[in-house]
Amino acid sequence: MEKNIQIAIDGPAGAGKSTVAKKVAERLGISYLDTGAMYRAIAYKVLASGILVTDEPQVVDVAKDVNIEFDYSKKTVYCDGEDVTRKIRSPEVSRAVAIVATYQGVREHLVRLQRQQAEKRSLVMDGRDIGTYVLPEAKVKIYLTASVEERAKRRYLEDITNKKNVSLQQVRLDIQNRDRIDLEREHSPLKPAADAIIIDTTDLTIDQVVDKIVKIVEEF
Ligand code: DC
Repeated sequence: MEKNIQIAIDGPAGAGKSTVAKKVAERLGISYLDTGAMYRAIAYKVLASGILVTDEPQVVDVAKDVNIEFDYSKKTVYCDGEDVTRKIRSPEVSRAVAIVATYQGVREHLVRLQRQQAEKRSLVMDGRDIGTYVLPEAKVKIYLTASVEERAKRRYLEDITNKKNVSLQQVRLDIQNRDRIDLEREHSPLKPAADAIIIDTTDLTIDQVVDKIVKIVEEF
């Protein structure tokens, strides 16, 4: 039997990872796992429980305790049975999640769950450390990037469409802040894997990026 196919897509916030990864998975007829959503589900649970995000031991306890489930067909994320698909995208969760993701205890636990998912099925997995750490044997590793201005603009348009009350300047500051934490953290910082293919999406449409990746996968 052929081994499960693993496609890793990493990159900074707003580079288009989740939109692109979802479409690549659809085109290839395989599943999509959004690992950022897992970190977000934990940040959501921490905030909802009234725990301080800076309280590392308690945050790690929440991570180990919480039950995160994905309904792949409905593209829904559940946290202890609650549908949190929209709630994990709030500005509060977006700010808290970068801190939560610096804790080694949280990362170890989630990486274990992510590898278990990849053992069960062929998938496209997106995040920050998929090619470098979670799936070092992935068939194809892609690192998506774009200028800060472009990433902020995309996130801002997305937020406005979802009726969130934000300014472009605030979104840009949030993205720069998350970049800094993701790049500088001690455990699994954001960086391209040595064998990753880097795609700058600043001047590309989503479909152009998806076409490029599908072509890369098919040619491998
Ligand atoms: O991709 P995203 O914006 O949903 O990710 C949310 C946060 O989670 C981001 O600040 C970095 C972190 N993250 C991570 O550290 N490792 C991953 N594999 C995925 C996300």
